[in-house]
Amino acid sequence: MIDNATPRAGGRRLTLGVRSALVIGTVGVLAAGLAVAATTAPAAAASTLGEAAAISGRYFGTAISASKLGDSQYTTIANREFNMVTAENEMKIDATEPNRGQFSFTNADRVYNWAVQNGKRVRGHTLAWHSQQPPWMQSLSGSSLRQAMIDHINGVMAHYRGKIYAWDVVNEAFDDGNGGRRDSNLQRTGNDWIEVAFRTARAADPAAKLCYNDYNIDNWTWAKTQGVYNMVRDFKQRGVPIDCVGLQAHFNSGSPYNSNFRTTISSFAALGVDVQITELDVQGASAQTYAAITNDCLAVPRCTGITVWGVRDQDSWRSGDTPLLFSGGNKKPAYDAVLNALNNASPTQSPTVTPTVTPTVTPTVTPTVTPTVTPPPGGCSVTATTQTQWAGGYVIQPVTVRNTGNAAISGWTVTFSFPSGHTLTGSWNASISGSGGSMSARNAAYNGNLAPNGTTTFGFQVARGGSDSSVASGYTCRVN
Ligand code: XIL
Repeated sequence: MIDNATPRAGGRRLTLGVRSALVIGTVGVLAAGLAVAATTAPAAAASTLGEAAAISGRYFGTAISASKLGDSQYTTIANREFNMVTAENEMKIDATEPNRGQFSFTNADRVYNWAVQNGKRVRGHTLAWHSQQPPWMQSLSGSSLRQAMIDHINGVMAHYRGKIYAWDVVNEAFDDGNGGRRDSNLQRTGNDWIEVAFRTARAADPAAKLCYNDYNIDNWTWAKTQGVYNMVRDFKQRGVPIDCVGLQAHFNSGSPYNSNFRTTISSFAALGVDVQITELDVQGASAQTYAAITNDCLAVPRCTGITVWGVRDQDSWRSGDTPLLFSGGNKKPAYDAVLNALNNASPTQSPTVTPTVTPTVTPTVTPTVTPTVTPPPGGCSVTATTQTQWAGGYVIQPVTVRNTGNAAISGWTVTFSFPSGHTLTGSWNASISGSGGSMSARNAAYNGNLAPNGTTTFGFQVARGGSDSSVASGYTCRVN
């Protein structure tokens, strides 16, 4: 017991009155000074969740809702305690692309800016999901839905390129019962939709960690957990870009915390991915359970952080379960349990620092040119499809740009003409300017590079002034 009570460097363990009483009883008057120290907060202990998590190199985050940023009790607690932010709803598909090709980041940016202006990092949530899809996406299927998913990932990730710690690229793609895939419109586009989403995401923002996120994959013995584990193992074996797994950790009577959670975390980590607890809430908020969960993460070096799904109980999507760490402005016993666990993290529990992913730079291939051979000039071609039209407008999608030259190109411009009265109402994967007979679409930041014969696509939406039935025409492509 004496050994246990001996202060460590920084004295973080000296919090227990019982231990200090034993010390006094054993070594007498010499320990009197220690007893005083033991009754006050140890100097090195952090007093907020974010700082305490940082002791071992981790983060502690919360979901933030844009609609609550005017509530000062909410922002005071959130700003003081957390150093990672997930937008609770504002970066979801229905919020960021309410109409096809029309991206809206107003509320997402409110959450993002609040986080960054207060020195916090941001997890992106979420890019491809069966739920909270806008009506236009719900009604798509097959290859047009597949393309819409790709365009959505590109559009949102371009807006936040280089600014997001980790993206939940795909959310909740597994079935609750049998360990297989969940049926959804995305799943029906083909089993490879998840890896297509991850490959698209890697190209769109090579700096973001790319996560698969799900619920009910916390209990190691559940078929769903095994299903996701097998997918991640397969992805790592085949080189599909995946960096992390998000365990939502919504614990309740139907899906209770189990001490094998630590096995789940360490098993995923052993596949070579980071693990994050991404949406933690615990029905009833047992202090013991919260402490156990925190210690499970601390025990695995690649468990890099914990996010709770809301600040106060009243902010929870399951407020009736009182599952969070604050009640009104007050810290609950679960809060103290988490803080103590984080403060007691040993330095050996630090997460592995994963080096920033540096994309492989392929050297430009300079062809050997013999003086008599003139290489064919670089160039590009363009084809455009009218995907859909109605009385007042139409969508041109995909517009496919192909590099027809024999060398890579780093940018392209497509010109085309609108019939009189037609105006642009939205576009994706290109920046479009001009008017009337002189329209010009330039590549976006992420799709200008095309290898010989490589293609990319963009699209746009048009309003017709009157009731003609014509569409844009006269497409030409040139290399920038
Ligand atoms: C929830 C939000 O908290 C609610 O406000 C919203 O009405 C529905 O979605 N899994 C997830 C989260 O990945 O996005 C969900 O968030 C909770 C379950």
